[in-house]
Amino acid sequence: MRHMLFTSGPNKISRGRLFQKHFDQRIDVKHVEVTTPLWPKEFDGLRVGHISDFHLGDLMPMDRALSAVQMLKSEEPDIVACTGDVVDLNALGAEPLFEAMANIDAPLGTMLVLGNHDELDCAATISDMALEAGVSLLRDGRCTINHNGSKLHVAGIDWAKSQKKCSAKVARVCHDKTHLLLSHNPKAFSAAANHNIPLTLSGHTHGGQLAVRDKPNTNLAVAHKRSSGLYDREDSRLFVTVGVGAWFPLRINCPAEVAILTLRSK
Ligand SMILES: [Fe+2]
Repeated sequence: MRHMLFTSGPNKISRGRLFQKHFDQRIDVKHVEVTTPLWPKEFDGLRVGHISDFHLGDLMPMDRALSAVQMLKSEEPDIVACTGDVVDLNALGAEPLFEAMANIDAPLGTMLVLGNHDELDCAATISDMALEAGVSLLRDGRCTINHNGSKLHVAGIDWAKSQKKCSAKVARVCHDKTHLLLSHNPKAFSAAANHNIPLTLSGHTHGGQLAVRDKPNTNLAVAHKRSSGLYDREDSRLFVTVGVGAWFPLRINCPAEVAILTLRSK
């Protein structure tokens, strides 16, 4: 119903011009430096490629999704984090996108958590596609990456709508050594900060898609107090990407993006 009202219906009325205008919009590469004394010194300078919310489907054809992945690849990140909503309504034919994310060939791998739109379709199918392609899927799970004799502890939680449910997942999945948390919903950050997790990466909000210029947090994502960019609470940091895709064909003062975060331990 939402798709028909805000997306396919208006596009039909515009005789396809609405989608074409949307596809003509640029995708930015955003560079952000993130500094926290909680970040492990052994991984000082680590570059994280963060990509989220493709919504592969009517508003994100495969070639546009692959070009966003190529933008990230050309930045040569050390690790890739995808924070969900890879597909929108239908996972059929999504395999090349997971393969492209794995083929970025970041030395520390490509990590993925699922978003609410992934779970709306078929979480099991999407999980199989990701694993088959060589993407590390964190479904309320964690992993330890051994790199040059040091360990990076990464955790990821499945979609949860409320802050309370996110907090319960963080408590269950993370431990006191977790360095990096992937959560589609930025509402996990309060719990992450309580656990002194240095960095949480999220998507989901799309930055509201319609934003007021030069006024941070003034956008359509009114259900989220942290909806776009970098946030801190004490020494914990949260980065919320506005994502590469969309759930309606309009972005104002909120261009689509892929992000490169450089981590500093001070
Ligand atoms: Fe999304």
